[in-house]
Amino acid sequence: LSKKQIEITFVKHDGTQIKTKGDVGDHFLNVVIKNNINLDGYGACEGTLTCSTCHLIFKQEDYDKLPEEPEGEEVDMLELARDVTDTSRLGCQVCLTESMDGIVVRVPEVVNDLRLPSTS
Ligand code: FES
Repeated sequence: LSKKQIEITFVKHDGTQIKTKGDVGDHFLNVVIKNNINLDGYGACEGTLTCSTCHLIFKQEDYDKLPEEPEGEEVDMLELARDVTDTSRLGCQVCLTESMDGIVVRVPEVVNDLRLPSTS
């Protein structure tokens, strides 16, 4: 019995599009890891909600369809992410659903690994 897969496109800040597939139920970070997608520093804390490098920007219409609102620690982390937008989420917290098939998400240019000492 194979798991249901959906198509996802990650768009890097330079416009490069990376088309891939992900299993429904996995979160976006898992998709990046399983497919060996090269996004610098992405998902540095491996989903333990301490880095914010898994920041993704959704299109408004996709964001509105996400099953859950960000809450608690995710909100705190997002506040610390660079270039955060109203439709930002952390990729390690958002799971794929069948209705996301064909979704396009943006990967922000600057990932802010909160585990590293601040440069400012
Ligand atoms: Fe670090 Fe999501 S991978 S907060």
